[in-house]
Amino acid sequence: MKGLILAGGAGSRLYPLTLVASKQLQPVYDKPMIYHPLTTLIEGGVREICLISTPHDLPRFKQLLGDGSRMGISIEYREQAKPEGIAQAFLIAESFIGNDAVALILGDNIFYGNNGFGEAFAEFTSGATIFGYHVHDPERYGVVEFDADGKAISIEEKPKEPKSNYAVPGLYIYDNDVVEITKNTKPSARGELEITAVNVEYLRRGTLRVEKLSRGFAWLDAGTSTSLHEASAYVQTIESRTGIKIGCPEEAAFRNGFLSSSQLATIAADMPHCEYRAYLENVIQESHRIENSKSR
Ligand code: TTP
Repeated sequence: MKGLILAGGAGSRLYPLTLVASKQLQPVYDKPMIYHPLTTLIEGGVREICLISTPHDLPRFKQLLGDGSRMGISIEYREQAKPEGIAQAFLIAESFIGNDAVALILGDNIFYGNNGFGEAFAEFTSGATIFGYHVHDPERYGVVEFDADGKAISIEEKPKEPKSNYAVPGLYIYDNDVVEITKNTKPSARGELEITAVNVEYLRRGTLRVEKLSRGFAWLDAGTSTSLHEASAYVQTIESRTGIKIGCPEEAAFRNGFLSSSQLATIAADMPHCEYRAYLENVIQESHRIENSKSR
């Protein structure tokens, strides 16, 4: 499966922060925001990733992430000249997707907890898999309505009168039909190729799965100054208490076998002396301790 990260947009709600760096490059406590969606894809077993952003911001992402080899993955880059909708990602990255299935994640979505997406990635074969997350303000999102058996029966984009409290978060998994479906989708009244229109088409075909994310799973939005601050505070609280980092792509790549412990050690040794490097060194030491105790 291929992975797309959509990290363009205007970021107007974060002005003036976004005058010099795009929303997805802003710090969420101790890392750039983009590390979170990147880690989610790596945890899902995705190794080939294409990052899409504005012509203005793309050079900064390249500077930060390079070709991905420092994270045991490969990263390609594509431009979105104007923010003409989330589904436009499938047209921009058509040649990258080729004949594969594809997972799309938004560059400002932060997920944390109990391996919420593990099965969805591992068991995906065809159709589409999206998620439903209980929120207090569903009218800001795509909203899924379920019948009494828990089957999705409608999806509406930013409805004035939502039919449920279940919003669709910014991680979507599709088979290769998504490219053709997007090509046949007309822009909405606001001039965008809507991801909801794509999901509605999969629903019409009877091949859409909507999985409810469990209580205790966190989906954070970092699009306003307040929610960005709250996301930072959340990450800081969990990291300080557990000593485990949220959104660390190198660690996810190591745990998924994309990087060996000696590769991770070399990558860490190239970093300046800092808390992030010390953390990765500790990850390696801990895994050696576990290996040694197994062989005893
Ligand atoms: P939004 O938060 O809806 O938009 P934005 O990032 O431009 O922010 P603002 O409303 O403050 O101006 O977008 C959600 C995510 O999707 C965000 O990561 C940007 C990305 N996006 C694109 O990259 N291209 C697009 O065409 C759209 C619609 C969104």
